[in-house]
Amino acid sequence: MTTRINLNGTIDQDAFVSVFDHGFLFGDSVYEVVSTWNNRPQFLERHLSRLRGSAQALFMEIPKSDAWFIEEVEKTLRAANNEESYIRIVVSRGPGEIDLDPSSCKTPNVVIYVTPAKVHLPEEYETGMDMVLVSIKRNPKEALNPGIKTGNYLNNVLAKMEANRLGAKEALMANPYGQLTECTTSNLFFVKEDRILTPSLDCGILPGITRNVVIQLARENGILVEEGEWPPEALDNADEIFLTGTLKRVMPITRYNDRKVGTGKPGPITRKIMRLYETFLDQSN
Ligand code: PDD
Repeated sequence: MTTRINLNGTIDQDAFVSVFDHGFLFGDSVYEVVSTWNNRPQFLERHLSRLRGSAQALFMEIPKSDAWFIEEVEKTLRAANNEESYIRIVVSRGPGEIDLDPSSCKTPNVVIYVTPAKVHLPEEYETGMDMVLVSIKRNPKEALNPGIKTGNYLNNVLAKMEANRLGAKEALMANPYGQLTECTTSNLFFVKEDRILTPSLDCGILPGITRNVVIQLARENGILVEEGEWPPEALDNADEIFLTGTLKRVMPITRYNDRKVGTGKPGPITRKIMRLYETFLDQSN
């Protein structure tokens, strides 16, 4: 089990980037997290497309083609030779002057990290996780739009720290308009009267790749999915809650704000979505 770092196309264990890189100085970077399933990178093209969308929103050029990324990810996966891997792709603005203005940054840095996957244990999916609503608000989309996956995750870092202080694993954030948004690295779904509800992209959330697949699978299987705007109280009497994300896949939430969700066990719709998602992963391999 090893970690391999690919910096601009060269695998180098001692890779480093300049202290003048604006990614380091200002969080001026974009990134994606890709996981493997049966040791194949999942949804890599979709992640690359979102990476390009994030870069475009920051007026940042990505100097490499998708074919280049696909080849370099493969190369780094082979070098790491793990059973399953966590892949992180970062593109930073590159080194420049100590000045917010990025015009002095001429060469972005492209880093691909491959490390052994930190898989959630099967027990976690059986018992479910606990989540709290934190006081930290998700950035409104009129500020640093959460739809852009930038290297500035301090909003989420603070939310996670607050959840830790409250003794919970996951932090749920509302936006300043009092609407539910998402968790620190996952999207929110809840179930009421056999319908799945999830905050719409308009609330200021990352358009999760897992979220998209789950919405599609639910609809194809006759489950109603509604994207909308909900206040935090909407969760208080939810029958089921689950989160989606590249690393968590479909994770049941069985405690919310220190109270049981439903029966306190993953509910039937959550279980169905978990099964459908795993089958989908198996089939797309
Ligand atoms: N995060 N919301 C946020 C804020 C996220 O950072 C992520 C993913 C998601 C889920 O998106 P997807 O289904 O495409 O993984 C939602 C990754 C895992 C991370 O930053 O570690």
